Amino acid sequence: MRFAMNDHIQAVHEPPIGEVKRWAAARSVEGPPLIDLCQAVPDYGPPPELLAHLHAAVDDPLTCRYTPDEGLPEVRQAVCDRYRRRYDAKVQPDQFCLTVGASAAFWLAMLVLCQAGDEVILQLPCYFDHPMALQSLAIRPVYAPFGEGQRGLPDPAAIARLITPRTRAILLVSPSNPTGAVIPPDLLRELYFLARQHRVALVLDETYSDFIEGMPHDLFTLAGWHDTLVQVISFGKSYALTGYRAGLLAAAPAFIGQALKLQDTMTVCQPRITQLGLQYGLERLDDWVTANRLMMALRHDRFVTEFARPGNRFRLVASGSFFAWVRHPFAGRTGREVAQKLALDAGLLTLPGEVFGPGMEDYLRLAFGNIRDQAIPEAVGRFRSAG
Ligand SMILES: Cc1ncc(COP(=O)(O)O)c(C=O)c1O
Repeated sequence: MRFAMNDHIQAVHEPPIGEVKRWAAARSVEGPPLIDLCQAVPDYGPPPELLAHLHAAVDDPLTCRYTPDEGLPEVRQAVCDRYRRRYDAKVQPDQFCLTVGASAAFWLAMLVLCQAGDEVILQLPCYFDHPMALQSLAIRPVYAPFGEGQRGLPDPAAIARLITPRTRAILLVSPSNPTGAVIPPDLLRELYFLARQHRVALVLDETYSDFIEGMPHDLFTLAGWHDTLVQVISFGKSYALTGYRAGLLAAAPAFIGQALKLQDTMTVCQPRITQLGLQYGLERLDDWVTANRLMMALRHDRFVTEFARPGNRFRLVASGSFFAWVRHPFAGRTGREVAQKLALDAGLLTLPGEVFGPGMEDYLRLAFGNIRDQAIPEAVGRFRSAG
């Protein structure tokens, strides 16, 4: 090319799922059939009544049109109602902006909060897209250390030590991708007050929160929550609509106002068809979501039991509804080397630990939420043979 490109973006590693899928494509045809533990996508589709609703919507020419940047008023109201049921939340529609996936909500949050050179604190191991986005924006990711003993849960004292005058946010993901760990409500409160005390934002990504039993936390019940909390969330996993890109940003109305300036220049609005699907889910699918949570919990129990059986040299460090974070037994070899060998020899697709932050080479992430109950013993058996 005869022109320069952005150095910050060139320094970011390529999207890891694509890399792993290439290993899968390079396998010999004689190998065992592939078991995909790589990308976090529910293995089931949306319920037929949601699909029928979308089908009917496609025939309406209005569905082809833009909506207001922030989303249709009735959909934001449905979000409000659901947050009141789920979080006992003190919320109003003007605290929500519908986005193109949680991914776009995260970009909006970071662009509103930070300028190049600012810092955001992330808990290791962290969701790979977060540092990729930060580095692209020349925002410095500052990593809070990972302790196996704490199973990847954040330590407020360790995070406090990382706060500097350039810190703009403490970024947390609960349940965590990649460890599956859920931050207990008391710990989350402590981190919220730490952020508040230091006048930085607590940015909370709750993409998997519908897989938590009961109320995930009480931060939305606090008066003035939006002076500190910025929430990024996806409904893609909740309603099995990942391809529809159903995300949301929850924050103070003044914050949403800034985010909408960006959204207007970027995606304008969440597609109307997505909003219609989301509204249907929010208003009518609470029981369906609960049933899937219970199914995922059973899958998790089965996975943990199988993984703990004797003869497995891979060690489960942390796990939750969708994910397991595992230490591989090959000292001195990187997660990438081990994951590639598992893909080629055992037909197991996993993600190498190092894509989840510096120093994570001894680990792998397994997204067992992708595979059916019956497939779990076979998948775990392959780890036992490979170790
Ligand atoms: C923690 C976390 N945040 C955000 C996302 C992205 O969500 P969306 O597909 O809605 O952009 C994912 C997707 O896997 C995720 O794991």
